[in-house]
Amino acid sequence: MLDPRRVHAETDHEARHEAAHGTDYDAVYDTGRKAGYDVVIIGGGVVGLSVAWRTARRGLSVAVVDPAPGGGATHVSAGMLAPVSEVTYTEEPLLRLGLASLARWPSFRAELEDESGSALDYRADGTLDIAYGADDMAYLDELAAFEKTLGLRVERLTGRECRAFEPMLSPSVRGGLLARDDAWVNPRRVVRALLTSFEKAGGTLLPDRVTALSAGRDGGDGDRSSGVRLASGEVVRATNVVVAAGSWSPSLVPGLPVRPVKGQILRLRGPEGFLTRCVRGLVHGSPAYLVPRGDGEITVGATVEELGFDGRVTAGGVYELLRDARELVPGITELELTETAVGFRPGTPDNLPLIGPAGSHGVLAATGHHRAGVLLAPITAEAVVAFLTGGEAPDVVKSCDPGRFSH
Ligand code: GLY
Repeated sequence: MLDPRRVHAETDHEARHEAAHGTDYDAVYDTGRKAGYDVVIIGGGVVGLSVAWRTARRGLSVAVVDPAPGGGATHVSAGMLAPVSEVTYTEEPLLRLGLASLARWPSFRAELEDESGSALDYRADGTLDIAYGADDMAYLDELAAFEKTLGLRVERLTGRECRAFEPMLSPSVRGGLLARDDAWVNPRRVVRALLTSFEKAGGTLLPDRVTALSAGRDGGDGDRSSGVRLASGEVVRATNVVVAAGSWSPSLVPGLPVRPVKGQILRLRGPEGFLTRCVRGLVHGSPAYLVPRGDGEITVGATVEELGFDGRVTAGGVYELLRDARELVPGITELELTETAVGFRPGTPDNLPLIGPAGSHGVLAATGHHRAGVLLAPITAEAVVAFLTGGEAPDVVKSCDPGRFSH
């Protein structure tokens, strides 16, 4: 898709990029003219930055446009890499995609830690899925049977066995499932590491907001470059534009079927080791999760609300989260409440992301990751790099064609 010898520039971003990174496009591409970027990525969340890092490492010139990288859904996200315990009956393609991305996480993490020099707080101790009442346990038993038909590794535990894993669990916990293959990571650390590694790989961060895609134009040699218009009025040219703007993506590509799914989430701080693995629970039918970090922080999530871009933290949301989390782990009421926050999951009609060419020439989507942006970042980045460089995207990503709803 991308021919780096055929790029155009109309802005001084090119000159700034050269000054920062010492790239001489005329020499590299021998075009005899100043060039724009090979790729501009709109959105510096975990997905946009993963794409950016992997693309820059391939030697392409890449800019990410975001006024506050890592400040959207990623900032609020719990960071569960949990395709097994987040599986639902009707979403097998999403499960396959999640498992494929989970398998990429260990090497993604190792390279990212190595290149950034910082630890991600990645942990692979599995998820403990807890049932509080008899109905909840019956549901988990059915789920376990379904998961086994899919070849997933899940173990049925009694209440006593659950408490042996996690002594802080309520004595009333009835039983649970252990999904040993699930992992989790600290998304805020992932974003910091991605930013460092992206810039080390020669990438450019433009702390601005994109107001519109700038239409492709014919350079006279059959090539049509495109680009983006910034809030400052400047146009940044690029051969390819990747839209990774989460819930805001439809404002850039009208008709893209992405909507905000509000989630309220809490952060608590307690002694290290208060919980040692991810605990999910069904409390009288309503799902809750607690995700511990190495430093004693515990993320408690999350509401699921179809309220558009309603950014309010509500008393009811906080109450319900604490109520359900306390049923599972009574001791949490002793912990410090350090943060309440709202994020907007970019939901799609079938809960699968949109990854691939999105209508106009040179425009790719990498958005709509709903509940699983952190999990799906490695496979999304791999697929987008393949689309950009004419390689083969992983087969499992075929289910994410952005055009699938118009067929
Ligand atoms: N993946 C967890 C959530 O979206 O709440």
